[in-house]
Amino acid sequence: MKKNNVYIETYGCQMNVADSEIVMGILQNCGYGITKSVDEADVVLINTCSIRENAEQRIYGRLGNFKTIKNSNPNLIVGILGCMAERLKKDLIEDKKLVDLVVGPDEYRRLPDLIEVAFQGEKGIGVRLSRTETYDDIIPYRGDGLQAWISVMRGCDKFCTFCVVPFTRGRERSKPLDSVTNEIRKLSERGFKEVTLLGQNVNSYRDGINDFADLLAASAVVDGNMRIRFTTSHPQDLSDKLLYTIAEHPNLCNYIHLPVQSGSNRILELMNRTYTIEQYLKLIDKAKKIIPGVSFSTDIITGFPTETREDHLMTLEIMKQVRYDGAYMFKYSAREGTKAYKMEDDVPDEVKTERLQEIIELQKQISFEINQQLISKEEIVLIEGYSRKSKSFLSGRTDNNKVLIIPFEKTIKEGKYIKAKVTRATHATLFGEFTAFINSLDENLGMTG
Ligand code: SAH
Ligand code: SF4
Ligand code: F3S
Repeated sequence: MKKNNVYIETYGCQMNVADSEIVMGILQNCGYGITKSVDEADVVLINTCSIRENAEQRIYGRLGNFKTIKNSNPNLIVGILGCMAERLKKDLIEDKKLVDLVVGPDEYRRLPDLIEVAFQGEKGIGVRLSRTETYDDIIPYRGDGLQAWISVMRGCDKFCTFCVVPFTRGRERSKPLDSVTNEIRKLSERGFKEVTLLGQNVNSYRDGINDFADLLAASAVVDGNMRIRFTTSHPQDLSDKLLYTIAEHPNLCNYIHLPVQSGSNRILELMNRTYTIEQYLKLIDKAKKIIPGVSFSTDIITGFPTETREDHLMTLEIMKQVRYDGAYMFKYSAREGTKAYKMEDDVPDEVKTERLQEIIELQKQISFEINQQLISKEEIVLIEGYSRKSKSFLSGRTDNNKVLIIPFEKTIKEGKYIKAKVTRATHATLFGEFTAFINSLDENLGMTG
């Protein structure tokens, strides 16, 4: 019998990227083929994001394209996975009449059955959230490469008032530590050089015995030449123990994504972020003391209900004080079902746009200045391959997650660590030259550029 082929397209955060690999793992186990081309697909799955209105709009646009394809190939099964599936549930089948399948983030084990049902001409729906599902026994489908994601915890219990994630992803639960370290070991054996541990609040990881610092420490010793990154950390759960653990292991990257969201205490309270700016700044100072050379990135929302010009200026101020390496910056988008949805979305769109522009400009300036200070310093770079723009250059990333470009040399292979001296920098990229090969990351303990 001919194998049915699945094509999957992924939107949203890295958790979704990791989930798509789990979905492909499940389906491949059940005899499905995985294809990179829609034309070869019998089943098209779209793993979706609901975080902001425009994320959903984009997906509706894409669903329109698939509708056209389905018109000429009525046997094609189209399914929606992920956060939009969870948020809109059967509305997606009833209103839009386009999709055959709607499956939320905790029901991917049922996908093979639900796809079967859809092939019989019925609609398949699975949107229950679970308090325990972590897919810890599923081997994700991964191509070869250097970098992999592992979801170590799922869900979110924080309920920031603007955010849909607690509704689309359910309650927090963590994968057992052994399951994570085993996966890292297998990746190391396959030649992977970097793993990012993922969770919406990765540092509130708890498997019943171990906390996130324990997990990081255990992950770090699997292979000392494998870089370990993690995202996203919530300020509330960034413990001292965690900071000391990062400082202790040379392969735990000195880079913390620590979303602040706003610089105004009044807005932070309305957002239910559970910290004040003073507490947040103390945390940053402490981290800088404990982890030499640590850098930070952040998320910022502009135009939250009632945000005034003064609140906005406070956000600019916190950016200047922390001096983030990078930031993801968004206009507030009201999401049905959240607490903030009940507040009037009273900052006009033009004002949101203007404020967003200001924070983007400021961040660019800060990133540029930080990168300029790296000129003539040395960085350890994991070579990832040719640069995107030209085969005359190689591209890699520094411990602090910055892209660094060097001129191509035959002897410098993908997956190798090298030292490079920075010669030039923009706000987004470092340029440098090769200075030495590195055999092991711990040789360079204490070298922070
Ligand atoms: N769990 C992470 C990030 C979750 S989503 C955390 O707590 O930091 C990624 C980012 O999207 C958030 O940090 C926030 O800045 C942004 N975001 C979430 N909901 C939003 C909304 N309704 N409008 C605009 N931005 C939003
Ligand atoms: Fe959303 Fe807040 Fe949870 Fe992050 S911590 S996922 S912003 S509710
Ligand atoms: Fe989007 Fe869901 Fe991730 S809403 S950001 S895909 S958790």
